[in-house]
Amino acid sequence: MCGIIGCVGTDETVSTLMDGLSNLEYRGYDSAGVAVQNGSGIKTFKRAGNVSEVRDALPDDPPSGTVGIGHTRWSTHGPPTDQNAHPHTDPEGRVAVVHNGVIENYDKLRSQLEATGNQFVSDTDTEVIPHLIAHYLDGGLEPETAFRRALERLEGSYAVAAIIEEEETILSARHGTPLVVGIDDGAFFLASDVPAFLERTSDVVYLEDGEIARVDPDGFSMMDIKGDPIESEIEHIEWDAKETGKGSYDHYMLKEIDTQPTALRQTIEGRIDPETGSVSLDGLEAGAFEDYDQVDFVACGTSYHAALYGSKLLQDAGVEATAYRASEYGASSNLVDDSTLAIPVTQSGETADTLSAMAEAAEAGATTVAVTNVMGSTAARRADETVFIRAGPEIGVAATKTFSSQVVTLLLLARRLAEDIDGTEPRDDFDEVLAALERLPDDLQYVLESSDARSVAHDYVDSEAYLFIGRHLGFPVAKEGALKFKEITYEHAESFTSGRLKHGPLALVTPSTPIFAIATGEERSKTLTNATEAKSRGAPIVLVTDDEETGAELADKRLTVPETHELLEGLLANVQLQLVSYYAANRLDREIDKPRNLAKSVTVE
Ligand code: F6R
Repeated sequence: MCGIIGCVGTDETVSTLMDGLSNLEYRGYDSAGVAVQNGSGIKTFKRAGNVSEVRDALPDDPPSGTVGIGHTRWSTHGPPTDQNAHPHTDPEGRVAVVHNGVIENYDKLRSQLEATGNQFVSDTDTEVIPHLIAHYLDGGLEPETAFRRALERLEGSYAVAAIIEEEETILSARHGTPLVVGIDDGAFFLASDVPAFLERTSDVVYLEDGEIARVDPDGFSMMDIKGDPIESEIEHIEWDAKETGKGSYDHYMLKEIDTQPTALRQTIEGRIDPETGSVSLDGLEAGAFEDYDQVDFVACGTSYHAALYGSKLLQDAGVEATAYRASEYGASSNLVDDSTLAIPVTQSGETADTLSAMAEAAEAGATTVAVTNVMGSTAARRADETVFIRAGPEIGVAATKTFSSQVVTLLLLARRLAEDIDGTEPRDDFDEVLAALERLPDDLQYVLESSDARSVAHDYVDSEAYLFIGRHLGFPVAKEGALKFKEITYEHAESFTSGRLKHGPLALVTPSTPIFAIATGEERSKTLTNATEAKSRGAPIVLVTDDEETGAELADKRLTVPETHELLEGLLANVQLQLVSYYAANRLDREIDKPRNLAKSVTVE
């Protein structure tokens, strides 16, 4: 939700900021803007539209200077207009600010500032911040003190960066939304996320809540809200900048679908002892989980579907596990105590709903183990333990490769839990699961190379609605198939457990509602029966299954996955559905990597 960037000491400030914003666009693309300090004041340029539109609209002589900040917006307060685009300034334009988060008391602050004669020009909550800083500057405070005093007045969440007239400095702070400093030779960056500057440096310092970073051409320093210095630790990010580019692909989404074999190899690498078959996960000692008797997954969107898949893997291993939608966790009547293991599953590690559910679980005494893709993310920093899914950076807003890597990570975690927790019965065919896991990247490659998803997508692209059904492990896949489809095609897609179809949803079925039936695993025959019931009412059936015979009479179209262990067939089936969504959205000419109204990192509840 909104991406912010700042840089000092680079040659081309505006183009560095714009490049950084392009890399952060997955966080929002309603409007973009930059502000640059060039010794004779602050020059601002901002527009509604995505980053490339704003870049194209830049004047021939863009603002020049050596210190600048930029923003790409996902609107919360106020529509996506030029006026509401960041950076925001005080009335005299002496202070410019970019912000990610929500200022909850902005109404009150705005009224107080208006009462002293300040006029506001936007609908945003952010605009109060430069006004406040300017107010304290007018009161005679030094810029850094004015910045800290302004922060003291804010309630809510923020990652904020400010530049102040005649100061060759960026002041920034974190409270509840992410912020990271990048350190290069002679240049310094600030951003919501590392891909913003990964092409320049992979040496970073993550800010914690309540920390302030001051960046100028001579270096950076960290302090708390009182101004007391804070020690910081420089970390090195392993991601390769090439991974954040589109390469020869038209869309990040297709690149990320296609690179799943590599992502899965990374996920699995070094985690299974080839001799004993035992699983080691990011330093979690054998026996680490022996004191827990209940696992609560909390997650949103695609990660929730991976968690649902994972909860079934755990149940299959004899572990009591439930997947909760993170935003509903507090309202569920679940009993959480110190025998609960709470597992937030979150690609970004920044999803506000998930972080909040994790905090609720921790408060009630649970131990938290974050399953995430992003080093240094809030989930990774706040959880008691973290297991990384190692999928590499995912830029497309629609999550693809991270779902696959999450499922595999949860399969490994299920094994560890089953080994540790008393009274569980680890599968006696785990050697077959391991063999299937080893083959998985090749099986997935086979799906990518042989898939008929493009022709299926094109055949049904004019349908009224799309229904996805599955049972057991096929159900999270059906849910994920429908989510992906609606997210990037904007067409109506729903998912049901196959058995539920006849209890109401069958009323939706017509010859223009293709049914994608996930017929994998042991439960396939019942799904085939349910799909047959829909076919009798005229629905075309697209069968996702692992052989040519299953449902031979039933299937109008077939998407085949290689035969593998039943625990992994759903994952392969999901890749077929990812491809269907992609090709359907492409045929409909949708903004695949930036679907309307969405953002990748949802940092508001
Ligand atoms: C769907 C999608 C979203 C995210 C959800 C959670 O393609 O990307 O539904 O899965 O917002 O995000 P994370 O995993 O970052 O917590």
